Amino acid sequence: MVMKRNRLAPLIVLFLMGLTIYAGFLIRDVIVLQDQIADENVSETLDGRPHIIMIGEVEDHLYWNIVRDSAMEYADANHLYLQYKGPRDPNPDEQVNILRKAIDVKPDGLIVQSLNESFIPLINEAITKGIPVITVDSDQPDSDRITYVGTDNYAAGERVAEDVLDHVDVVQAGIIAGTYTNNHHQLRLEGFHDVLQASDRADILDMASSGIKRVNAREKAYQMLLTYPEMNVLYGTSALDVLGITEAIDLLGREGIYVVGFDTIEENLQLLGEGKVDTLVSQEPYQMGIKSMEIIERIIRGETVPDLINTDSHLVKRDLP
Ligand code: BGC
Repeated sequence: MVMKRNRLAPLIVLFLMGLTIYAGFLIRDVIVLQDQIADENVSETLDGRPHIIMIGEVEDHLYWNIVRDSAMEYADANHLYLQYKGPRDPNPDEQVNILRKAIDVKPDGLIVQSLNESFIPLINEAITKGIPVITVDSDQPDSDRITYVGTDNYAAGERVAEDVLDHVDVVQAGIIAGTYTNNHHQLRLEGFHDVLQASDRADILDMASSGIKRVNAREKAYQMLLTYPEMNVLYGTSALDVLGITEAIDLLGREGIYVVGFDTIEENLQLLGEGKVDTLVSQEPYQMGIKSMEIIERIIRGETVPDLINTDSHLVKRDLP
């Protein structure tokens, strides 16, 4: 009895291995088929319209939804077909993979938020293959991209620092950076740092990254304020950072901290109105969506465009009665 079972064992193992390999092939075929179907659907949907793919930092995010929706608005009004894509959670590697797949689809134009150097080879590959690429929100000037549509991030960082120096006597600053690695966040840090460094009454005490998430911004700001009770300025470089910063300040019941940061999304404007935030840097995600579409359309039509298009950005303060 025992002997028989032993003899059967290798056969069962072989059978299971075969089954696994077969299942692998089956799954691959299904994926290929799904891609084919998706391609066919796209070409049916195109109905003669130029196909544009926009790749943002996140699929669903307060800031990126504004960029996406305004771009969609432009597409609908101008007989263009736009697909917006982005990772479910911010993840530059996944964003690069999305870009790779988008190139395979051979759209008529690509609009990409380019976060770091790993985007360069793909941007260049797309250009070589005849697909025009422009960057939005975060630039990649070392690539062959045709133009950039977005904020001048270094200048914005400088303006924030000047505002802080205008309002705080001796600056003891903490920074919540959206990321340390993304080009546009780096520029916002550099501009801020360079202006403060040139002053003899400013120090940056600490810096941490929120990964562009409100909950992380809150945790990091909370820890910073506990570690540095003398901290009197907090600067958030991405859209949800001031939300987290003010939550941390509230939790600790701290007062007299000058809060500055990016983006005039509704939630942040409310904090500005309540006096919890002192200064916001406005960016124009709506304008970025519209403008980037207009520019890619002009490129597709064969027009020449400037190689840098800065959208509006300025400091916004509370309207005092
Ligand atoms: C940046 C975007 C980023 C967003 C996230 C904005 O300030 O420009 O790139 O995705 O913040 O919160």
